[in-house]
Formats: sequence, C-alpha cells, structure tokens
Amino acid sequence: MDIQAITNDGIVHKQVFRGHAPEQDNAVSISYPGTEVVGHGSFGVVFTTRIEETGEKVAIKKVLQDRRFKNRELEIMKMLQHPQVADLKYYFYETDPQGEVYLNLVLEYMPASLYQRLRHFVTQRANMPRIEIKLYMYQLFKCLNYLHTRAGVCHRDIKPQNLLVDPVTFSLKLCDFGSAKQLKPTEPNVSYICSRYYRAPELIFGATNYTVQIDVWSSGCVMAELILGQPMFPGESGIDQLVEIIKILGTPTKQEICAMNPNYMEHKFPQIRPIPLAKVFKREDHTTVQFLSDVLRYDPTARFTALQCLCAEYFDELRTTEDPELINIVQKLHLLEFDKEQELGSLTESQAELVTQKLTSN
Ligand SMILES: Nc1ncnc2c1ncn2[C@@H]1O[C@H](COP(=O)(O)OP(=O)(O)O)[C@@H](O)[C@H]1O
Ligand SMILES: [Mg+2]
Repeated sequence: MDIQAITNDGIVHKQVFRGHAPEQDNAVSISYPGTEVVGHGSFGVVFTTRIEETGEKVAIKKVLQDRRFKNRELEIMKMLQHPQVADLKYYFYETDPQGEVYLNLVLEYMPASLYQRLRHFVTQRANMPRIEIKLYMYQLFKCLNYLHTRAGVCHRDIKPQNLLVDPVTFSLKLCDFGSAKQLKPTEPNVSYICSRYYRAPELIFGATNYTVQIDVWSSGCVMAELILGQPMFPGESGIDQLVEIIKILGTPTKQEICAMNPNYMEHKFPQIRPIPLAKVFKREDHTTVQFLSDVLRYDPTARFTALQCLCAEYFDELRTTEDPELINIVQKLHLLEFDKEQELGSLTESQAELVTQKLTSN
C-alpha cells in the first residue's frame, strides 16, 4: 500500500459511523490533521492523529475491504466494549482511484505496544518490574474472561505486539481482532492461526475443535516472555515450535495428547523429561511458578480458564496490598470491579457470589 497516499499535510474531513451505534444511525462528521504512521501490519497500516471536534487522540487502522464479505474484525469490535479492549470510536470506508475499498477503524490511542515496552527494558539489560508484569497480566486475563464468557469470542492472536499499554498508568488494552472469531462448539475452525511462538500445542497438533483456551496458552507465553526478556518457546517452524515446548514441558502423556488431538494417540514421540519450571524461572517465587504451570498445561481442559487465572494466588497481591502507590494504581484502573452480567454472566448466582468475594476482597 502506498503510505504517502494516506499521510497528508491538510485537514481531512470524513463522514463516519459511531463505533457502537447501529449502522442505520446517521453518520457524523470528523476532521483530523496530517497523520503519523505507527505500524505496518500484515493487513494494512495504522496511523495516529487527533480528532479536531473532540480532541480525542486516535489510531486509525486502514485495511483493504473485500467487497464480497463483511469484515469480521469490524463486526466483533462493534460488539465489544470493555476497559481492556482498544475501543472502536468510529469507522468509515474509502475508495482509492483504482476502485479498491478500504475500511478505516478509528480506535482509542495507546502510547506503546507491550512488545515495545519489553524492548525498552531489554535494551537497558534490565528486567520488567514484577509488579508491572502482574498488572498487565491481570488486565489481559480480565479482558479474556470478558471476551470468552460474554460472547465466546476467541482472539486467536494474543502476542506482545497486539497488547497496547500505557507505561505511566500501567493500563493494558487488547487490539487487533483481525483473527478473532466467535467459536461454536459444533463448528470446526482452522488451526493455522496465531503467531508461532504463542501457538497452543493443540493448534500445532492441527486440532479444529479447539476452544477459547488457546488464548490462555498464548497469554502464559507472553507472561513468560516478560519475565525472561525473550520468548519462552522460540520455534523456528511449525513443528519446531512443538519441539521447543517439549524441551521444557516434557513429552505429553497419552491422555494429554488425546485432549489435544486424538488422531496423534498412536504417534511415537521421543520421551523427554520435563525441566521443572522453578529451574526455568529461577528468580521467581513459588506462587508465580505455580501460576505459570497452571496456565501452560498441554490439556486445554486442565489449563486454567481466564477466570481461574484472575482468582489465582498470584494476583492476591493486587487485592491485599497495603502499598498506597499500588492501591492507587489498582483503584484508578478499576481492577477490582466486575460487571456481573458481562464478566461473571456464565456463573450461577452462588458461584458468582463466591467469585465476587474472592475477586474484590481487599
Ligand atoms: N489503538 C492503537 N494505538 C496505538 N497504536 C496502535 C493501536 N492499534 C494498533 N497500533 C499499532 O499498530 C500495530 C498494528 O496494529 P494491528 O491492529 O495489530 O494490525 P495488524 O493486523 O496489521 O497486525 C500494533 O502492533 C501497534 O503497534
Ligand atoms: Mg497485530
């Protein structure tokens, strides 16, 4: 795509749709000045600007629109509203001189990606502070719990580049719903999704009946990377990715293979013994190591769900801290507040009560 075509010196005026309003609603008009490109993804370009009428700083993601299909990313983003999802403020279509149609998603702006934030520490040969990791991971699981329970939406591409952060407030928001899908238990889904280092083992085994639990695996890989300063399973190809996992977690048992993809039950794998995670994460305490081992489980049904992650002892520090600075961060981000319907809606009344007690105890 010609980037010069979308960066410009003048003021641009656009008729746009509001992100969460029904499409038949009247379009509103926005204007924005010359733009700065921040990202070139696989599907388009992202640039930042400020809307003149409202003063909002935004990122505009421009993607080629196939006229034959509805854009799934747009449909999902219209539906989602949560403090940990980069909010879709507006969207509009543009046609270039060649007649190609582009969809523009106008999103709330965030100053950095988690990938950039981690690089900042790595280039200084420093570790990301443990509490910063915990704050980001908590918000990631809060977001996943909402996505998974509210609408059965699986993001399918959790990785540091798709997590946006503000290093001043420690706010985290998930972006890039270009691979996201509402999973239905009766319908198969393609297994060739998700970026290599973060792919759950059931995807590598080619499962098409996978669940939202693949996002939890990816999140475990992200957490490990934040601690280690480099990817935990840096596979060089699809199959090598499995080798990297087996090198640390050991060969999966027959039951675990069955839970990932029963077609591989008879396959002979070399027997590798696991390396205890306490050795991989030498400087982390027992609670952190235990948490990682509950998240990075081969069997997706034994792997913690996003809600179980939120309830884990690892996050108790956020609920029980007496450090005024941390209390202030937790309060400002509303981390201990849960929407009964949107976030705990899958639970029975009595379960919801217990979980609420656990999640809001302070
Ligand atoms: N709301 C936003 N605020 C700031 N930067 C963003 C925002 N959305 C995306 N970006 C930047 O643009 C990059 C690409 O955006 P993304 O939605 O992931 O597109 P792609 O589908 O091409 O990967 C991100 O990794 C991030 O660096
Ligand atoms: Mg992306």
